[in-house]
Amino acid sequence: MRRWIIDLSQENWREAPEAADVCEALTDGQLAAIPTETVYGLAADATNGQACARIFSAKGRPQFNPLISHVESVDAALKHGSFNEDAMKLAEAFWPGPLTLVVPKHPDSPISDLATAGLQSVALRVPSGPVMRFLAERTGRPLAAPSANVSGRVSTTTADAVEADLGSALSFIVDAGPCQIGIESTIVALTDETPRLLRPGGVPREALEAVLGRPLAAPTGQATRQDAPQAPGMLTSHYAPAAAVRLNAQDVRAGEAYLAFGPSPLKGAEDAAATFNLSETSDLTEAAAHLFAAMRHLDSFGATTICVQSIPETGLGEAINDRLRRAAAPRTVGH
Ligand code: TXA
Ligand code: MG
Repeated sequence: MRRWIIDLSQENWREAPEAADVCEALTDGQLAAIPTETVYGLAADATNGQACARIFSAKGRPQFNPLISHVESVDAALKHGSFNEDAMKLAEAFWPGPLTLVVPKHPDSPISDLATAGLQSVALRVPSGPVMRFLAERTGRPLAAPSANVSGRVSTTTADAVEADLGSALSFIVDAGPCQIGIESTIVALTDETPRLLRPGGVPREALEAVLGRPLAAPTGQATRQDAPQAPGMLTSHYAPAAAVRLNAQDVRAGEAYLAFGPSPLKGAEDAAATFNLSETSDLTEAAAHLFAAMRHLDSFGATTICVQSIPETGLGEAINDRLRRAAAPRTVGH
C-alpha cells in the first residue's frame, strides 16, 4: 500500500508522479482510498465488475447494497443516467457538492451491475473535493466509492483512519488531509415524479426544498434483501462505534465517554472517561465535520457507553442525528 500525500494549496499537485500511478492502479481494477469533501471513499473503476467486487469484499459489505458512482461533471453524469426536470435543477444548484442523485440508469451506461446491485437506477455524484473529480476525469472512468470504512463502522475522514480500517486491501491511500464536511452526501431519489430524501447528509433538506419549490417525500416501502434497499442504512445498525450509544443524555453517568455539544456541559461531565465537544459554539457545520472522528476518538478509551448531548434537528442537525440514531440502534449480525 502506498500513500500519496497531497497539499491542495499547491497548484501543481495534479502533476505529481503518484497521479499516474493511482490512475494506473484504478484502471487495472485495484482499490484506492480517495478523499472527497464529505468522507474518504473506497474507490474502484465502476465499469469493472471485478473491481467493484473487491470493494464489497474489502468492506465486508452485503452485496445488495449499491454503490455511488463519482464523476467529474454534470455532463459526465448525463451519460449514465436520465435526469428529469427536478434532477437537472438539483444537479445545477448543488454540483459539484455533497449531493447524490439516484436516477434511472441509461441502458448504454458502462457502469457495472455490481455497482448498482442490479437495480434499474444509478446513484451519481459530482463531489466538490477536487481529488476524486480529477481521478475520474483522468482515468476516464466513473469511480464507484462507498465510504472507506469496514461495513457498519463509522465513516473515515482522515487517511490514518482509512489505513487502520482498510489498509491491507488498498493499493493506494490518497491523503489530502481531513475532509471538510465530515458527513456523507445527502441522497435524493428522482426515479419517478416525486423527489424522495433517501439519506440526510451534507446538503440540508431545507436547501433542496427551496430549489425544488416543494417538500421532499420520504422513501417508499421497507428495504428487504429481496427488493434491495431504497434508502441506505435501512439496515438497522450502521455507523456503529464499539461502545453503546446513549442519546439525548441529560447527565453523564460514571464511566461513560461524553460526546458534548454547545457551551454548557451536562451534569457529571467532570467524571467522564473522555470528552469530545462537537462544537463549543453550537455550530452544526463544525459538529458535522468532527462527528466521525469524535466517535472514533471516544471509542478508543474503551468506555462501554458513549453518552450524547442533544443536538437540534434543523439544517445539518438532521443528518448528524440520523447518524447518531443509527450508531445507537441495536446491532445486527454481519453489518
Ligand atoms: O459522501 C458520500 O456519499 C460518500 C463519499 C465517498 O462519496 N459515499 C458514501 O457511500 O457514503 P456509501 O456506499 O457508504 O453510501 C451510499 C448509499 C448506499 O448505502 C446505498 O444504499 C445508496 O447509497 N445507493 C446507491 N445506489 C443506490 C440506488 N440505485 N438506489 C438507492 N440507493 C442507492
Ligand atoms: Mg457508508
